[in-house]
Amino acid sequence: MSSTRPTSRIAGTGHYAPEKVLTNHDLERMVDTSDEWIAERTGIRQRHLAAEGETTSDMAAHAARAAIAAAGIAPTDLDLIIVATVTPDVPLPSTAVFVQQKIGARPDCPAFDIAAACAGFIYGMSIADRFLTTGGARHVLVIGVELLSRVIDWSDRTTCVLFGDGAGAAVLTRSEDERGLLSTHLFADGAQAQALHIPAGGSALPASLATVEAGLHTVHMTGQDVFKYAVRALSSASVTALEANGISKEDVRWVIPHQANLRILEAVSKRIGVGIERFVLNIARYGNTSSASIPIALDEALRAGTIESGDLVLMCALGAGFAWGSALLRI
Ligand SMILES: CC(C)(COP(=O)(O)OP(=O)(O)OC[C@H]1O[C@@H](n2cnc3c(N)ncnc32)[C@H](O)[C@@H]1OP(=O)(O)O)[C@@H](O)C(=O)NCCC(=O)NCCS
Repeated sequence: MSSTRPTSRIAGTGHYAPEKVLTNHDLERMVDTSDEWIAERTGIRQRHLAAEGETTSDMAAHAARAAIAAAGIAPTDLDLIIVATVTPDVPLPSTAVFVQQKIGARPDCPAFDIAAACAGFIYGMSIADRFLTTGGARHVLVIGVELLSRVIDWSDRTTCVLFGDGAGAAVLTRSEDERGLLSTHLFADGAQAQALHIPAGGSALPASLATVEAGLHTVHMTGQDVFKYAVRALSSASVTALEANGISKEDVRWVIPHQANLRILEAVSKRIGVGIERFVLNIARYGNTSSASIPIALDEALRAGTIESGDLVLMCALGAGFAWGSALLRI
């Protein structure tokens, strides 16, 4: 049965994780921490780290090629490339233009970055959906990619144990069947900007010898504030998605959350009444890969056959800003 309203369907996904793995035991030799503390407080056991010389766009291109192949299209079929990242190759130009060139997309294919931190993939899908359903585009590539290891203070145990590098990508295709995105809901609260930020390197505080010496080019975070806000915001964005579509929590087959902390996700699971066994979880193996975490988890679950065609999937993410959101889709 075909619907009259066009939707944005996930036609193919891919992901890339760098070869190098840093375990919690490796971190024990770098800072005053323990495998037990990290695993208990976060659920993380290991994370992947990019090789020296490897760039954000390199990782993005790997994930993109896999997603394009899975979608059964050619790179030249893409009508738009959106890269969600807060760790671009360079401040100017966008990482998306490097990806366009590396994957062999059309030289006139529009390409741009968005900065919504860990919510970047949901923001990216929401933008892609607008281009697809209003008729302008047929295939949009959305990538979530982060090379956080380059902006982490590796002597700060309160942040360095949390993050990892990786990339995930999806080709969204305009479709007339019943599968696809049912809705996206996006939110932001700039009053919380200081809770998770990189203080220097932009117009407010340009790079200087003093900013480098003061360690202002790395991630600074008030962990407990982020934790509490995340539980509330992820839960309410998830409920908003269900209510907006008149869908009950029992109908959700899988939740794919941003993977920041297992305890955050357990609290969200309780609040929204969807058991944690229905959450797709890979935080133990990747840590927090920010905008890459949802598309990596999505790709792994699709390739493993865990998520099947017809499943109703709820996504939710929160990150620096704070920026957060939810998406509901039928695979
Ligand atoms: C960062 C986080 C794991 C800390 O966990 P927590 O349970 O809140 O721990 P606290 O900050 O209360 O710290 C408890 C103690 O552990 C210590 N500690 C912090 N990091 C540690 C580490 N890696 N290893 C060992 N001890 C550590 C603290 O110094 C503190 O010691 P103290 O009691 O002597 O002062 C948690 O707050 C969190 O995950 N927040 C959300 C962060 C996040 O998701 N950010 C990204 C969002 S996209």
